[in-house]
Amino acid sequence: MVCLGNICRSPLAEGILQDKTKNKNIFVDSAGTASYHIGKLPDSRSIEIANKYGIDLTKQRARQFSKIDFDNFDKIYAMDTHNYASIISISRNENDRNKVELILNEINPKLCDSVPDPYYGERDGFQKMYNMLDVACNIIVSKL
Ligand code: 4NP
Repeated sequence: MVCLGNICRSPLAEGILQDKTKNKNIFVDSAGTASYHIGKLPDSRSIEIANKYGIDLTKQRARQFSKIDFDNFDKIYAMDTHNYASIISISRNENDRNKVELILNEINPKLCDSVPDPYYGERDGFQKMYNMLDVACNIIVSKL
């Protein structure tokens, strides 16, 4: 799960997908394309909305996406088109690129919708983000 800062969207996406796959042998992680928040806890508003659904994000720390992630993961979900482009820009080959998908394309294939960045927005942005990610993750799990 990849966003910009790895403190708002992708930590929540990681927590939701982990929660839905806890009985499966699947490793879920998240990262940001930017380096600003490396080592930080998820944003308190993401922690709070996750808590509401019984999901704990407090063991997570932000890290930056790197080329090695193309080797370590089978699937890479970008939260928005900007981050999708950043990930593709450091891909090494077609195999890397085939792993990358916009997460909301799981709901509406080919629409290329982005999960809005809630960082500077209102608190209800975090609830809307949760709702979108919950639907997308249900579809991801149904295909596993
Ligand atoms: P995220 O949100 O990409 O969902 O973690 C953001 C967090 C921080 C910033 C931007 C987006 N920032 O500019 O610091």
